[in-house]
Amino acid sequence: MARVAASLLDRRAGPPAAVSQHDSVQHWVEAYRAVRAETERRAAPLSAEDQIVQSMPDASPTKWHRAHTTWFFEQFLLKPHAPGYREFDERFAFLFNSYYVAAGPRHARPERGLVTRPNAAEVTAYRSHVDRAVEQLIANADAATIETIAPIVEIGLHHEQQHQELLLTDILHAFAQNPTDPAYDQAWRPPQTQSGTVFVDLPVGIHAIGHDGDGFCFDNEQPRHQTFLREVSIGRQLVSNGQWLQFMAEGGYSTPSLWLSDGWAKAEAEQWSAPGYWREIDGAWLTLTLAGLKPIDPAAPVCHVSYYEADAFARWAGKHLPTEAEWEVAARAGVLANAYGVVWQWTRSAYLPYPGYRAAEGALGEYNGKFMVNQMVLRGSSLATPAGHARVSYRNFFYPHARWQFSGLRLADYD
Ligand SMILES: [Fe+2]
Repeated sequence: MARVAASLLDRRAGPPAAVSQHDSVQHWVEAYRAVRAETERRAAPLSAEDQIVQSMPDASPTKWHRAHTTWFFEQFLLKPHAPGYREFDERFAFLFNSYYVAAGPRHARPERGLVTRPNAAEVTAYRSHVDRAVEQLIANADAATIETIAPIVEIGLHHEQQHQELLLTDILHAFAQNPTDPAYDQAWRPPQTQSGTVFVDLPVGIHAIGHDGDGFCFDNEQPRHQTFLREVSIGRQLVSNGQWLQFMAEGGYSTPSLWLSDGWAKAEAEQWSAPGYWREIDGAWLTLTLAGLKPIDPAAPVCHVSYYEADAFARWAGKHLPTEAEWEVAARAGVLANAYGVVWQWTRSAYLPYPGYRAAEGALGEYNGKFMVNQMVLRGSSLATPAGHARVSYRNFFYPHARWQFSGLRLADYD
């Protein structure tokens, strides 16, 4: 995947005081353009028909991602802060609000694929309308206005980057329902990775985890706080397809004692016998990738496994999944290979508020806090994560049965 906008979003939330107002405006205009362009670059290989499809309630159409990220700027930036702004179409707020109850009523998530109007071209026009207004707002902003709007622009850009990843995971799920195994991009290649089964000891004692205050973070990464680590070692490398094939060969998917009860029920109900998108053809395993159907590479990290599968694998291996604190301490120490840019790594930490966490006031307070039940934390980032988006304290989260994300694992060991 192209790595666009890294240098822009790697910068601190705002320019230092010594930087002129002009530079500040320039920074935000450039950051906005770069992120918005990356969404369109990712959507470009997809036809109007591709962009309509919703293959399951958890996945959204490409066209919806493009429109919803636009609505986010319209709702939270332009309506409150751009005097005289006129909505592109007042019906879009209902169609493209995702889950913000405070922002008003919204269309049912499982029915996003039924919204054929506006069409893809009209969504392109919607994006242009909002882009013009946002760029004008930033360009004309005085120092006080920039101070007010910069945090909203910034969270809007990080929000859009999250949807850039979902755009790819969701279209891959849609393509996986198509018997012709479509390729999103024939030229796509998997990231280079390091294989191996080396375990590294982590230092026993009290460690600080959470965002350290340098640069942007989501509210769920704070407050930074102390946590205790007992003797534990962590896998330097990600678990590979070869290891997963061994798990399968030794009855991993047919041994209930390896599984959590909910996981076993899900695996039985959905007849799981291999990771998501894997299929066996003439005795060989293949998987659907962004470049179409490809043979499984035993040395490559396993991908598209749920938390339930990762947990069963760890039990089979006689080990466990790291906690998110173990993962973060190891990542901060630099001992993890492929921590970023390959697969999100399941941890065995439930997605919970850090001690002292308070969600923000207002609709944007709904961003993370209200999802802190029944989901598990993943750390790192994946091959679909845009450059500059991930960081060591980043907490991704999904339901334990989810396997359409680019999700894998590394192991940890208490022995
Ligand atoms: Fe969203």
